[in-house]
Amino acid sequence: MPDRPISPQSRDDDVALDRALRPNRLIDFPGQERLKENLSILIEAAKQRHEALDHVLFYGPPGLGKTSLAHIVANEMGVNVRVTSGPAIERAGDLAAILTNLKAGDVLFIDEIHRLGRAIEEVLYPALEDFALDIIIGKGPSARNIRLKLPPFTVVGATTRLALVSSPLRARFGVVYRLDYYEQPVLEQIIRRAVKLLNVQVDPSGLSEIARRGRGTPRVALRLMRRVRDYAQVRGDGVVDGKLAAEALTLLDVDPLGLDDLDRRVLRSIIEKFNGGPVGLETIAASISEESDTIMDVVEPYLLQLGFLDRTPRGRVATRRAYDHLQIEYPERPEQTALF
Ligand SMILES: Nc1ncnc2c1ncn2[C@@H]1O[C@H](COP(=O)(O)OP(=O)(O)O)[C@@H](O)[C@H]1O
Ligand SMILES: [Mg+2]
Repeated sequence: MPDRPISPQSRDDDVALDRALRPNRLIDFPGQERLKENLSILIEAAKQRHEALDHVLFYGPPGLGKTSLAHIVANEMGVNVRVTSGPAIERAGDLAAILTNLKAGDVLFIDEIHRLGRAIEEVLYPALEDFALDIIIGKGPSARNIRLKLPPFTVVGATTRLALVSSPLRARFGVVYRLDYYEQPVLEQIIRRAVKLLNVQVDPSGLSEIARRGRGTPRVALRLMRRVRDYAQVRGDGVVDGKLAAEALTLLDVDPLGLDDLDRRVLRSIIEKFNGGPVGLETIAASISEESDTIMDVVEPYLLQLGFLDRTPRGRVATRRAYDHLQIEYPERPEQTALF
């Protein structure tokens, strides 16, 4: 969905901005306060002991700062970071090559770690646990197993789907941190820093309008900010206020809560085609011809966060709030209340 302005997935035109805006230190990274406090203790303790940091796993919806934190961890530790991802490591040999090139203390960032192949995971276990690499030399009866010693290093893993990370892999991470959606004031702070760096003039009402529609997600908020900047340049007098930001974002089909057309279609489908649910996500995806991955990673978590969906064992249910937001009358359902 390349044209979805609120897609929290990274896009090509984000790369340059990402580089300019990506915080390098924990102190420049607003929000996620508990996570940061825990992480900074972990880092401080490892530095005092002159040890490699424990393996760290970050999970949460896209665009909340997992990749940024991986780089921050390396920066704070004063070590190099090597970046790869689950789908990029196709063969055990690829992983072996990466591992044998690491230096003591280095960070290996594995993005989308839930997409690592089984065979690759098997190689990773002893590497994570004992800093050892088991390789087989030769074939058939003469094959021999050799164990190579690796320098102590740190794997930082990131995933949008913790449930898809196998439990043996998850168990080998010393710490697992969840990233939460950002509160509006924190998003405002992030946008404020960006507009300064980009020399855009945004007044406080403009900031809060962009933050409100930013889906609690820095990547989304920053992208909306750029779209608003374009709009202001062409249609306005250069200064972004709340009214202008609202106009620009409404034109992009981003509503006051940050929902776009896809979110609304998901809700409509549940309400209109499945009587408000319960209905499974795969079924919803099929009913609107969208990829279930996008719906699971991006649409559902935010709708749950807004309290527009409830998760039940039999599927997702649209709440009264969702009906209200779409201005659809909420049906009283005596047959369901009678169950309780
Ligand atoms: N707490 C934050 N403060 C400032 N910018 C942030 C923060 N979290 C994320 N960003 C910005 O949002 C964008 C997406 O962050 P990223 O780390 O790539 O998210 P993820 O890896 O979780 O998808 C980047 O441009 C990053 O600089
Ligand atoms: Mg990322």
